[in-house]
Amino acid sequence: MRFAVLASGQGSNLQALIDAQQRGALAPAEIALVVCNRPGAPALARAAAAGVRSVLIDHTRHPNRRSFEDALLIELRSADIEAVVLAGFMRILTDHFVGAFPLRILNTHPALCPAFPGVYAVRQALDYGVKMTGCTVHLVDSGVDTGPIVFQAVVPVVDDDNEASLHERIRAHEHALLPEAARLLAAGRLRIEGRRVQILPG
Ligand code: GRF
Repeated sequence: MRFAVLASGQGSNLQALIDAQQRGALAPAEIALVVCNRPGAPALARAAAAGVRSVLIDHTRHPNRRSFEDALLIELRSADIEAVVLAGFMRILTDHFVGAFPLRILNTHPALCPAFPGVYAVRQALDYGVKMTGCTVHLVDSGVDTGPIVFQAVVPVVDDDNEASLHERIRAHEHALLPEAARLLAAGRLRIEGRRVQILPG
């Protein structure tokens, strides 16, 4: 199954997907394209270093979300993309895009959904004083971080945590779970019934 990975920043989750592919742990998922919306983002360099085709679609050059999403869809269709991984992609996608890949878009969110949706999840968890947070790998629906959950991992918060230290430990779990979710989706091993996702035996 041909995947596009959409990334905006550091791209450590993209790197985890590339690493999984290179050690043969991603098949039958295949990263066929990387799309980045920020010029100069490290995600672009990571794709280039791995020999994965990448394209920059700068959202600031589009007058509205629709135009930006149309540009994304054109690139994805021309690369015969069948599924999408959002790996630190910091743009909200509307139904126009999500509807083009129904139950074929994975996202990773650095909190235990439904807690702390949105951009500042790690900071909000710290500020709230939770003792446990984590990450959620989920299928994307029309809401923000609301889709059916594939995996969650719990990360304890320690007394001297700051946003960076906590996020780093959360990322370590994302790096394991996101490629595995892509592999299972591609293998047809995610059975989705309403909000519940069951992992079928291989
Ligand atoms: C990840 O923690 C992801 O959950 C969030 O943004 C972060 C991206 O990190 N949406 P990276 O760019 O993959 O390093």
